[in-house]
Formats: sequence, structure tokens, C-alpha cells
Amino acid sequence: MKKRLIGILLCILMAASVLAACGKKDEETGSKGGDKTIGVCMPTKDLQRWNQDGENMEKQLKAAGYKVDLQYASNDVQTQVSQIENMIANDVSLLVIASIEGDSLGTVLAQAKEKKIPVIAYDRLIMNTDAVSYYATFDNYMVGTKQGEYIEEALDLKNAAGPFNIELITGDPGDNNAKYFFDGAMDVLNPYIDSGKLVVKSGQKDFATVATASWSTENAQTRIENIISSFYADGTQLHAVMASNDSTALGVANALTASYTGEWPILTGQDCDIANVKNMKAGKQSMSIFKDTRDLATQVVKMVDAIMKGGDAPVNDTKSYDNGKGIVPTYLCEPVFADANNYKELLIDSGYYTEDQLK
Ligand code: BGC
Repeated sequence: MKKRLIGILLCILMAASVLAACGKKDEETGSKGGDKTIGVCMPTKDLQRWNQDGENMEKQLKAAGYKVDLQYASNDVQTQVSQIENMIANDVSLLVIASIEGDSLGTVLAQAKEKKIPVIAYDRLIMNTDAVSYYATFDNYMVGTKQGEYIEEALDLKNAAGPFNIELITGDPGDNNAKYFFDGAMDVLNPYIDSGKLVVKSGQKDFATVATASWSTENAQTRIENIISSFYADGTQLHAVMASNDSTALGVANALTASYTGEWPILTGQDCDIANVKNMKAGKQSMSIFKDTRDLATQVVKMVDAIMKGGDAPVNDTKSYDNGKGIVPTYLCEPVFADANNYKELLIDSGYYTEDQLK
């Protein structure tokens, strides 16, 4: 009897150690999502970058063993809210959200919090809710700084007498990033505007006036066409346009092609969208900012994995991003400067695009 008992106990101990070893193996290999589904919400398919972000996230999450529910919301806030509601109802294990309007998700995310579903804000910070656990993005202020510095150098503002004419165009006011991009650029350019070396002939300088609803190319084109016809139609030279991203820069380039006769101005951008890289090659856009969405996805998948294992996610900034309810721990990836000289190395050699895509 005693021997049998010892035998049973030994069997239980052996089974327990085998189970523990299996669990440990999972931890060591850095996997496996198992049955866990990660909800990934992207704003729109209209802009190239979000398609890439969505694809990269899906691919990398699946490779880490997770199931993925990936949704795009046609830039419609209500659609995004419904998609998130459905994901919560379906008990996803974690939500990764690139918001359309940073301020509009508080109510739906309160439901996520109630169900203890962690939320990672992807690229754009989600505002005024305590349901966001982490934020991962590129350094938005640095994006703007690089754009401002490009114009500063290209016009040699430190030395040249000027004055030079500049116009400004930024993004959607509901996107928390837009203000960071704009401030980063304007912190470089404003001293020159104040001293009169840079002149904004349209007088349109404040964020609200130069914002572009939905970051839309058409809206950007219409505004710049109006500015050209009112201030530059008589042959007045426009020296530079500070555009915060590629969709707005494309609108600017379209407006210039349609109605401007002077020398082509310096034009900034961001994202290295295919149409814009083609414009850089053709001399119609001076620079862009390359944000390698593969790197952002890798970082977010690391966050997901850490959280799913009950740990803390890796971050490198715990002071810059306050969403109105407190600081959100953030991982900042570094944006990279791109132009006609380095795009091959950056975009083709790294496998981001093929040569054919840029023809
Ligand atoms: C992103 C940019 C993008 C813009 C328009 C911003 O939140 O950070 O990369 O160009 O949205 O989609």
C-alpha cells in the first residue's frame, strides 16, 4: 500500500516537472501566442503606409504564434469604434490601435479596460483615457525637426540674406501626431519668420489654419492652389513649402504642376510613399522621412509578447507623451532622412521596395 502511494506520488511529480519544462521551453523560445487573438485596428486603406503597417503587424504577430483580427476603418471614426466594440465582444486578448481621431475612443476603451484587455496605441497616441497601456511610434517631434532643418540648410538660412517665401501645410487636427510634426518644424523655422528672413505671403501660419482634414491630398491641393492664385500667380517666387507628410506633399506637387510657373520650390514630406519617391527622383519633392514600418511592427510585437506573458513591455521614453490622463510609457523608433541621393540604399537595398515599384 505504502509502495503504491509512493509510486503514485512519484508519477505526479514527474508529470508536473514535464509540464513545467514545456512551459519553460515556451518562455525560452519567446513564443507562442497559442489561442490568443490580437485585434489590430488601422485607420484607412487609402494611404499606402497603413496598408504596410497592417500587413507587417499581421505577418509578425502570426510568426510569433498569435491569431490576428486586422481591420481598416475607411477613416471613419464610428466605423473604428464599432470594430473595436466587436473585438472586445469577441474577447480578443489585446488591442493594437492606430486611431483616426485620438480623442474619440475613450468610451469604447472603457469597455476594454473593464474586461482587462490591454491596449497599445500604434503610431498615434489615444487621448484622454486611462485604458491605454503603452504607445509605440516614431519620434514625431524629430520628424518635424528634420523637415525644418532641411529647409534651413537648403535655403542656407543661417547665412543667406533672404527674404525667402515659404508656405506651410500640416495634417489632420484630430491626429495627435500632427501637432508634434508641426511644432518640430516650426521650432526651427519660426525664428526666421520672426526675423523676416522667411515670409509666409498667405499669412497662414497657425496650426488650425494650415491643418489638412484627413491628411487628404485633394484638400491639400485645393488649399495650395488657392494660395498660388492669390499670392504667386504674378510670378512671385515660392521658395519652400513645409509639408508635414507625403499625402499633403503630393497635393502640393499637384497644385504646383497645375498652376505655378516659377522655379520649383523646396518641398518636404514624410513616409516615403511610392508616388513621393517617384517625385523625389523627378525633382518634384526634395525630401521625405523614412519610417520603416517593419521596425515599428517588430517593436509592437515585442510589446504584445511581453504583455501576454504577464511582464512589462520594453519602452525607451517615459516622459514625452501625456494623453491627458497621465504619461503613457512609449517606445520611440527613429525616423530617417531620405532624398534622391540615398533612397536606393534606404528603400531598395533594405528590401522595402523593389526597383520596379519606383519606376
Ligand atoms: C503618421 C504619418 C502619416 C499621417 C497620415 C500620421 O499619424 O504618423 O506617418 O503620414 O498620419 O496618415
